[in-house]
Amino acid sequence: MGLLDGKVAIVTGAGHGIGRGEALELARQGAAVVVNDVGGSVHGEGSDKRAAEGVAEVIKGAGGRATANFDDVADWSGAQRMVRQAVEEFGKLDVVVNNAGIVRDAMLFSMSEGDFDAVVRVHLKGTFAVTHHAANYWRDESKAGRQPRAAIVNTVSSAGLQGNVGQANYGAAKAGIAALTVISSLELARYGVRANAVAPGGMTRITATLRKDAEVKEPDELEGADYDHMNPANSAPMVAWLASDDALHVTGQVFRAVGHRITHYQPWTLGPTVETKGGPARWEASDIGPAVNAFIFGSRAPGLQIGG
Ligand SMILES: NC(=O)c1ccc[n+]([C@@H]2O[C@H](COP(=O)([O-])OP(=O)(O)OC[C@H]3O[C@@H](n4cnc5c(N)ncnc54)[C@H](O)[C@@H]3O)[C@@H](O)[C@H]2O)c1
Repeated sequence: MGLLDGKVAIVTGAGHGIGRGEALELARQGAAVVVNDVGGSVHGEGSDKRAAEGVAEVIKGAGGRATANFDDVADWSGAQRMVRQAVEEFGKLDVVVNNAGIVRDAMLFSMSEGDFDAVVRVHLKGTFAVTHHAANYWRDESKAGRQPRAAIVNTVSSAGLQGNVGQANYGAAKAGIAALTVISSLELARYGVRANAVAPGGMTRITATLRKDAEVKEPDELEGADYDHMNPANSAPMVAWLASDDALHVTGQVFRAVGHRITHYQPWTLGPTVETKGGPARWEASDIGPAVNAFIFGSRAPGLQIGG
């Protein structure tokens, strides 16, 4: 018995790294998997069908059900084709794991318009495009009287939720995906669809752009080896659980799942508030500093120094 027996899943960017580990784990848990991957470089150039085909073959070789898909997640009709392929080949769609990604790191003063657009396109638009077409399918199913039990698992990063130097494009896209996750959970609940996000970790092509000594190994190459904190498959069990009906009570949540640790991200939350003295009125700009310093930062004039 697997957690995902009878489910049909799409995993985007499943040809390498973390997505590859997720596709293999979802299949191990009983899901039929549409293995999507455009097969491009880590910076988003080129295409190669072997990435997705190879993973689909590994799954089928282990007795699972899989089909390869080569569409670009951020291509509007490509995202629609991916959803249709799941339904045509496996009869339905229950799970979407939006994982595909690229990087083009630079300090923001050096980052080109093209590098900003390319990274935001794959991560943020790609997550939206696949989610949009899957949401239409699930809404139609619900209206036809077949209420889905479906799940979206998006992929975020500490680079977006906590910030990281050199990743203005990537971090902004990942923070956007966290917001998209919360909004998806609110809009799709009535159609039986949950949406959560995971910040994964592992030694992959993306990590290797930052660590020159890195040795990148795919999850199936590490199969059977001793526990390795940087195995890209380590985040996959959390994704499988969130995708499963064991997590029917979990939606709109973001988790970090790296190595042996699972951590719940606290969302943006309203904190201490200050109000104008003497009842509602527009603030005088010069009154704001003393009020904020005293009641929000807990310090009196001259206030906090930048970087202090
Ligand atoms: N590696 C980490 O430690 C880490 C940390 C936080 C977040 N992430 C996120 O995990 C996800 C997977 O990254 P990874 O580290 O496994 O890198 P990776 O390069 O090994 O895998 C990314 C995959 O996405 C595919 N892809 C890229 N653009 C695509 C597109 N337009 N359409 C379809 N497929 C596309 C690539 O071909 C590749 O196979 C990304 O979203 C990344 O931002 C990774």
